[in-house]
Amino acid sequence: MTTQLKITNLTKKFKNFTALNNINLELNSGEVLGYIGPNGAGKSTTIRSILGILHPTNGQIEIFGQDAFKDASKIHEKLAYVPGDVYLWPNLTGGETIDLLLKMNNQKHSQLTDELIKDFDLDISKKNKTYSKGNRQKVALIAAFSTEAEIYIFDEPTSGLDPLNEEVFKKHLKKLKDNGKSILLSSHILSEVQEVADRIAIIRNGQIIQTGTLEEMQYLTDTLVEAQVSGDPQELKNMPGVSNLVIKDKKVSFQVDSDNLNNTINYLSSIGLASLKSTKPTLEQIFLQYYKVSGDK
Ligand SMILES: Nc1ncnc2c1ncn2[C@@H]1O[C@H](COP(=O)(O)OP(=O)(O)OP(=O)(O)O)[C@@H](O)[C@H]1O
Ligand SMILES: [Mg+2]
Repeated sequence: MTTQLKITNLTKKFKNFTALNNINLELNSGEVLGYIGPNGAGKSTTIRSILGILHPTNGQIEIFGQDAFKDASKIHEKLAYVPGDVYLWPNLTGGETIDLLLKMNNQKHSQLTDELIKDFDLDISKKNKTYSKGNRQKVALIAAFSTEAEIYIFDEPTSGLDPLNEEVFKKHLKKLKDNGKSILLSSHILSEVQEVADRIAIIRNGQIIQTGTLEEMQYLTDTLVEAQVSGDPQELKNMPGVSNLVIKDKKVSFQVDSDNLNNTINYLSSIGLASLKSTKPTLEQIFLQYYKVSGDK
């Protein structure tokens, strides 16, 4: 395993505003790194710095051991990128655009390109100006997936895709990963990257507040349970995997890790269950929980 991308103490300021505050991040070969954070957290700023579009105020970004800003053109020979907002030449067709994007990266339209067009079910004869957001995203994704690179960077790639196309995206992402490629995948929705990411980095207000594997961030996979019971639910206090327990008369709410979900639901059912609601925590709730744990406000 080699480190393909290494960000060290990166700070990016726009005049007086600090968009990135001393961030550290690594991307290894054959790894999918999920980069999660709410709107305005600094995901795209990080990515634009990686691409050498923005000059760091402080710190270093090394890709394949080279400097992201100074050696950008050399690095880009082995890097594929799909931006969050895809803008395309309005009067070219989707097909022409895919071929042009490939040509700009010294790539050729291949069998894989045709397979991708079919998989994403894109009508390539239409002009870009007639495409919806999702279709524009497909054009950029098809070009990126048929590019032979070492690092693939996707900035919120599935925000415009319907669930079927999201599955197509995941299929091709897994193929890249199986071929040992490195992938950075940004999103503001945890569930979008949970399935495919080996590691996750969480950014908020320009700072990385957590990095680790999903197992290491076990609490991310906790389920929120709200129930109305007929018996006395006090025993929940002693049950493993249960946290943030609130009991109010016959109403209970708590979080439980996936290993103990079954036990707790069985227990609730044994004391008499009038209603039950279980949900995965949202990104906001995870942040809130993180702040509670760290005592940071
Ligand atoms: N060129 C710029 N000049 C000034 N401020 C900027 C500039 N680019 C980004 N910012 C600010 O930096 C912060 C981070 O923006 P960024 O686009 O990186 O967020 P993001 O995590 O990608 O959010 P989103 O999920 O909405 O895409 C925001 O507060 C944004 O307004
Ligand atoms: Mg963004």
